[in-house]
Amino acid sequence: ISDARTAAANAQDLSQLQAALGAYEHCDLKRGARNLVFSDGHPTARVMFIGEAPGRDEDQQGKPFVGRAGQLLDKMLAAIDMDRLLDTPEAGVYITNVLPWRPPQNRDPKPEEIAMMRPFMQRHVDLVDPDVVVLVGNISCDAGLGRRGITRLRGTWAEAYGKPALPMFHPAYLLRNPAAKREAWADLLELKARLESGV
Ligand code: URA
Repeated sequence: ISDARTAAANAQDLSQLQAALGAYEHCDLKRGARNLVFSDGHPTARVMFIGEAPGRDEDQQGKPFVGRAGQLLDKMLAAIDMDRLLDTPEAGVYITNVLPWRPPQNRDPKPEEIAMMRPFMQRHVDLVDPDVVVLVGNISCDAGLGRRGITRLRGTWAEAYGKPALPMFHPAYLLRNPAAKREAWADLLELKARLESGV
């Protein structure tokens, strides 16, 4: 982990951080993954979405949230007039994951993997410097807040990585539990209200 801290701290911009991750050999997940999945969207966006880890589609394409869950995320963003393809700070978003490599068979990331990669995540937030972060799902809450329990945490602002942080349900969870879309919608409106209030 001290290696991760040094490597992360030495990265002066996002491309250096991506390169530092590519050169980092201490996380076993890297060996099973096809691609490093760094980020998508716009680094000047006011909002940074932080998911869990790449799945099969993301591992293949080298981009976060491009599979079924990602398509739902895109629809949810569109509903609040946001789009990862837009490069205006107001309408654009930046998207990444707690872990940049796909865990084998999409198993849950281990606590030690999350801990090992945390300095990179912190540096990633520091470099993007968004106004707010959205913690997408339980693993992201665990990494950002040190707490799980998304059902209780969602919709309430907390602080993670030194930023105001809003936990919300993971779109993969919403695909399995469509009734929970009601809460996710409320959380998106809360996010939008926060951004419009200029805080
Ligand atoms: N789930 C995540 O948490 N992240 C992705 O990039 C894809 C699916």
